[in-house]
Amino acid sequence: SSCAAVVTAAGSGTRLGAGIPKALVPLAGRPMLSYAVAGMALAGVTTIVVTAPGDSLWEFEAAVRPEELAAAAATAWPRTHIAWPRTTATAADVQVVAGGASRQASVSAGIAALAEVQPRVILVHDAARPLTPPELITRLAKSVTERTPAVIPGVPVADTLKRVDASGRVAETVDRSVVRAIQTPQAFTAELLSRAHAFGAARTHDETLAATDDAGLVEAMGKPVLVIKGKCTAAKITTAADLRLAEAQLAALR
Ligand code: CTP
Ligand code: MG
Repeated sequence: SSCAAVVTAAGSGTRLGAGIPKALVPLAGRPMLSYAVAGMALAGVTTIVVTAPGDSLWEFEAAVRPEELAAAAATAWPRTHIAWPRTTATAADVQVVAGGASRQASVSAGIAALAEVQPRVILVHDAARPLTPPELITRLAKSVTERTPAVIPGVPVADTLKRVDASGRVAETVDRSVVRAIQTPQAFTAELLSRAHAFGAARTHDETLAATDDAGLVEAMGKPVLVIKGKCTAAKITTAADLRLAEAQLAALR
């Protein structure tokens, strides 16, 4: 098998404040996780590992049943046809495993669960980005080569950016044209991603290594990371306002 994915869903969703794990919060009546996994399956990813909170694995397993994936796919991408290798959202092998205390630990658990599959490429994706278009996922997977073993999606930033000191005083205005807001999936050769996580795990107490994404670990190893054009529909759902925006995106399809 050549392309596998780790979908992170072990967070609690504190900032969303829905009272249930964020990945299970409904969008147009279906769990966010169902969309995130369906998008991967539509993109032709054949093996998908979902990281979930250890105490509610069965609820997450219910959200990734083939019927749930097919329903989510039909809701979010109703006009999807033969453009992708797979025409149904039911053809992927989906496994749910317990995540860890941090996002990085959850991704590591997901990578470990893929050891026997030996994929060439691993995509790491947040369940909190449920409407990420399958087209972006295939573009990322195809961009991974021996020369570009780490490829991530980024979008321009609309706001003015300033670096500030601890007291809030402006140190400088940052040139916005050279900055990108980074999304997921992030795509890597399995070999590089495994090495990056081993590197990160050995440095959990190193404050200079404050990686909030997987590419950050690759960068810390001194390896190159390529940014390609992301999509606004891959935006992360963090707050209740983000959730309303995603609901509006889905309503516009109907
Ligand atoms: N995540 C994870 N394991 C953790 C923490 C986060 O798998 N220990 C996942 C989340 O489920 C989410 C992604 O990482 O899909 C991005 O994290 P974030 O948006 O911060 O989600 P939460 O941590 O759930 O939200 P919050 O920080 O508001 O609690
Ligand atoms: Mg978090």
